[in-house]
Amino acid sequence: MTETRDRWSSELGLIAGAIGSAVGLGNLWLFPMLVAQNGGAAFLIPYFFFTITLVWTGLVIEFNTGQIAQQGPAGAYKELGMPFGKIVGLIPGLRPLVVFAFYSSIAGWTIRYIAAPVSNGFWESPGQFFGSVNSGANSAIFAVVATLIIGTIVYFGVKKGIEPATKVMLGLLFALIILLAARGVLLDGSLEGLRYYLIPDFDKLTPTVVLNAMAQAFFTASLAGAPLVVYGSYLSDKADTVTAAITTTFGNATIAILAGFAIFPAALAVGIEPATTGPGLMFISIPQIAQQIPGSSIVVSGFFLAAALAAISTGISIMEVPVDTLRYHTGLSRKKITPLLVGFIVLLAVPTAMSSELFNLLTTVVLYSGPLAALLAPIGLFWAYDGKKTLERINEGPGINLGGWFIYWGKYVYPAGILFAYLWDIFG
Ligand code: ALA
Repeated sequence: MTETRDRWSSELGLIAGAIGSAVGLGNLWLFPMLVAQNGGAAFLIPYFFFTITLVWTGLVIEFNTGQIAQQGPAGAYKELGMPFGKIVGLIPGLRPLVVFAFYSSIAGWTIRYIAAPVSNGFWESPGQFFGSVNSGANSAIFAVVATLIIGTIVYFGVKKGIEPATKVMLGLLFALIILLAARGVLLDGSLEGLRYYLIPDFDKLTPTVVLNAMAQAFFTASLAGAPLVVYGSYLSDKADTVTAAITTTFGNATIAILAGFAIFPAALAVGIEPATTGPGLMFISIPQIAQQIPGSSIVVSGFFLAAALAAISTGISIMEVPVDTLRYHTGLSRKKITPLLVGFIVLLAVPTAMSSELFNLLTTVVLYSGPLAALLAPIGLFWAYDGKKTLERINEGPGINLGGWFIYWGKYVYPAGILFAYLWDIFG
């Protein structure tokens, strides 16, 4: 017999949890890196297109998959009547282990960077400093620290960790990212970076850039048929999942856009070539801008503290999925499963933190597989369960109602949109 399901204390809990899951290193670290590697501003066009079409609707779909089934991905698809649903659910139910393997490394770097301003090397040579943090034992130790912090919060359950951590994190992060973005934009020589970030070169808009933009839009919103399905399953009936989805989508995109304003003007002003800087982009650029702000050490520590909290609240949602999956399949309690899972994750995280090849491989696999994993929720709700009943359930909540178009959207347009981006890249 499994434990009773956890519950949010209120609908705001879902919004806090979803924003906590969405806002993370995908916004601060991955978004600027992918913009740089995918043609600068050209990337933003498909990124926004997917955000205002597929992402918020995907969030509605995933929240309701969990809410209607009252299960995380492990049990939801069987509950919704999908053939082989229990086996299918293992894919989104266990995929987050791979996400966690590389995510814990970056989370670890952000934790290490909280104290970075006390090292002279950090200010004198940010690139070299990053090189010492992101490799070998240093990287592994902090990946383990991040895993243990996240594991401890997950061990204690939903209400006590996620909601308060998210509130603190978001306030601090918004304030600091606005400060850094404003300083970045006002730097001498910022114009080159602003042009790079905001004026698209349409020749660079290739099918691969479009696919990468979709993969990023899904990753940053945590859309992969997993964390948001679990979080939806912690809702009681009659929640306004549409408002929660819209708030999460636009809050999340805003933080990513601000991160770009913080990073690109500064990077180009000091001669960093963003496209080739790779995973160090955020870690190397932030000290460059912070130096131009009074109290630079406090600004840097505050920024990385906020980034670490963002990574932790996302990490909680990632770890919560395999915890839920193992609870579903074994019937064991959260308190028995979590320590075992943390031990297993450490075995995955340590080699990933120590090998940049493995790190890059897992990051790529996770990015490209995310939207495919996200296909399961619309198939579960609109094909295996019932589109009309799904819409009725969505509209039972207070707040915004969706029209009949959403049945066609969920059944055809959303899955076709995801598949189209892959096919266009392969055959385009
Ligand atoms: N949504 C999470 C992030 O952006 C995975 O970090």
